[in-house]
Amino acid sequence: MRATVAFLFLAVFGCDRRPVFSKEEIDRAQIGKGLPKGFLLGTATSAHQVEGGLDNDWTEWEKGSFPDGRPHIEGGHQSALAADSWNLFPEDLKAMRRLGVNTYRLSVEWSRLEPSPGAWDLAAEARYRSWLIDLRATGIEPMVTLQHVTLPRWVEAEGGWEWGGMEAALGTFAARVAAALGGQADLWCTLNEPNVAAAEAYLTANKPPGVSDAKRMAKVLVKTLHAHAAMAAAVRGADTVDADGDGEATRVGIAHLVQWFEPASYQTVDTTIAGLTDDFFNEAIPRAVKTGRIQFTIPGEVSVDEGVPGLEGTFDYLGLNYYRRDFVRFNPSDPKLATGFVPKGKPTNDLGWEVYPEGLYRMLVRFGRWGWPILITENGVSTRNADLRTSYLRSHLYAVEKAVEAGAPVEGYYHWSLIDNFEWTDGYESKFGLFEIDFDDPSRQRRATPAVATFQDVARNLGLVPIE
Ligand code: BGC
Repeated sequence: MRATVAFLFLAVFGCDRRPVFSKEEIDRAQIGKGLPKGFLLGTATSAHQVEGGLDNDWTEWEKGSFPDGRPHIEGGHQSALAADSWNLFPEDLKAMRRLGVNTYRLSVEWSRLEPSPGAWDLAAEARYRSWLIDLRATGIEPMVTLQHVTLPRWVEAEGGWEWGGMEAALGTFAARVAAALGGQADLWCTLNEPNVAAAEAYLTANKPPGVSDAKRMAKVLVKTLHAHAAMAAAVRGADTVDADGDGEATRVGIAHLVQWFEPASYQTVDTTIAGLTDDFFNEAIPRAVKTGRIQFTIPGEVSVDEGVPGLEGTFDYLGLNYYRRDFVRFNPSDPKLATGFVPKGKPTNDLGWEVYPEGLYRMLVRFGRWGWPILITENGVSTRNADLRTSYLRSHLYAVEKAVEAGAPVEGYYHWSLIDNFEWTDGYESKFGLFEIDFDDPSRQRRATPAVATFQDVARNLGLVPIE
């Protein structure tokens, strides 16, 4: 046992270099100059968080509260009009042109396109298509995410992710979207963060349906992989148009959230739980796509080892969402068997997440060895502090450059987020936008934060042209 633990610890924490980036070296760097030719530089959003006017499982959840009386959403906020991107997309496009991006990750909303089973909203489809046409006409390559957190109410009524028909329904949805939008899109992201979808909805119970049951969580995680396999096959079958003329009609992946887990101490219990958490959260999904088998263990609760037909080979790229590092301490009374925390004195964002750019570097170097090209599908900071937003952006892009220098095949970076938006359980208090929005102002005007100039510098260093 000790040998296994020592091996696990070394495998996860011991072999990677532990770089420390100094403020001086980051300040000196001409970030962007070291990124490869053709690098995709952009921003990301998701439908529920920006569009407004939706009716799905989340709009229902937003009205409720936890058994202890706390509202599901901080401050009792509801997404409602959100950033009104459904009507203000031209403003978003203007913001993107000002940044100088050459790509944009957005999601399409299932509940909008298919409001009831089999019914299809052609007007909504046409609006999404027009956005993609406008993006492409401006030299911005779209990445379309097919499912980002929310589910239609009718899917929720069937049992949501536990519904037996879920994989097939998502496959059908993916085929229809790919056929409708494939003429404008080559880059596809089937699912956003299946690990979080399973863990937060079925283990930590802070997202709908608010369940805490490791066995149900494990089943849902496996189902997300079946769904991804069905969606990847559907997209590849239905989108045969090479929109950007690079010889490939589709590039398919998921956006996989990775987090650096640091053991709270060198005691065996902490190193073991940190290793298991890392294995479950960071490695299990990419490993499943490599091998075609999903394998993970939650000690004392559940152990999964099963084949997923059609899963192997479904990544054309590995999409990584990275925000933070967490220190991990063994805690037998937590459903995750671990408590995550940030030691006093570490720099944090407004949500208490550690600002740790070296973690992005370490993840990129580590997953860079797995053989897929990497797209950083999300990275950003929730803050009201302009200096922190700017330094976070620079330090994390610096980490990307350093990882590229170390040989990691990173081909793109999407900053989360273009504009302030509805941040799930944290509602509108959380500010991730490069452009800020006052959610009390019905105009939803987008105002540039000082980090826009920082982003423009990077874009220019990359040879892109921000348009003021
Ligand atoms: C999600 C986004 C979210 C962001 C910041 C990611 O996990 O994909 O929807 O807003 O993190 O929390």
